[in-house]
Amino acid sequence: MIIAIDGPAASGKGTLAKRVAAHWDLPCLDTGLLYRAVARDVRARRLKLTDTWAAVAAARSLEPDSLQDPGLRDRTMGEWASVAASIPEVRAALLAYQRAFAGQAGGAVLDGRDIGTVVCPKADVKLYVTASPQVRAERRFSELQARLEPVTYEAVLEDIQRRDARDAGRQSAPMRPADDAILLETSELDIEAAFDAAVGLIKRKIGQ
Ligand code: CDP
Repeated sequence: MIIAIDGPAASGKGTLAKRVAAHWDLPCLDTGLLYRAVARDVRARRLKLTDTWAAVAAARSLEPDSLQDPGLRDRTMGEWASVAASIPEVRAALLAYQRAFAGQAGGAVLDGRDIGTVVCPKADVKLYVTASPQVRAERRFSELQARLEPVTYEAVLEDIQRRDARDAGRQSAPMRPADDAILLETSELDIEAAFDAAVGLIKRKIGQ
């Protein structure tokens, strides 16, 4: 069973994906980490994120173990990732890894922006998780505060809106719900309620 969970920045799709994966005992891949790691590696070499050659080289030499790096969750990494993610050749270089992960025996849960549209267009279930920009900014602001990152709510809201516009507006694999995705609006839901709703939608879809 392949479950694709997409949605805009800080929509809670990562938390939801992990909980859903644990519920059905499936492996889970947060594909945002791949783009964040590419950005980290390009910047570590003091090269530009818009340097296609450097970004593709970083994507091709990505070590899966390096996805555990907690620094990937830093605020700047999200912004940098979105710049690197708009390069079609970078996306192409990361596709085989994501598809191999999805193709494991028994299935997998993947979360990102283009899982339902490009990476796994034949996924058994596709969820598109949304929430208002204000709610998403509040959630991300609390996460960053817990990580002791000095940032204001307003700056986080701006980050999210800029990133959403870039992710939805790019030519290659723009962020959008697949035609057969089920929308899950979580502005009014806490994580428990969002998880319960997701499980209900998935069960109905797979006929459990
Ligand atoms: O956690 P958050 O929603 O803030 O971001 P993320 O899922 O870690 O993704 C970081 C960035 O990577 C996004 O803004 C996208 O530009 C890019 N991304 C993508 O293009 N395609 C994916 N499947 C996943 C992430």
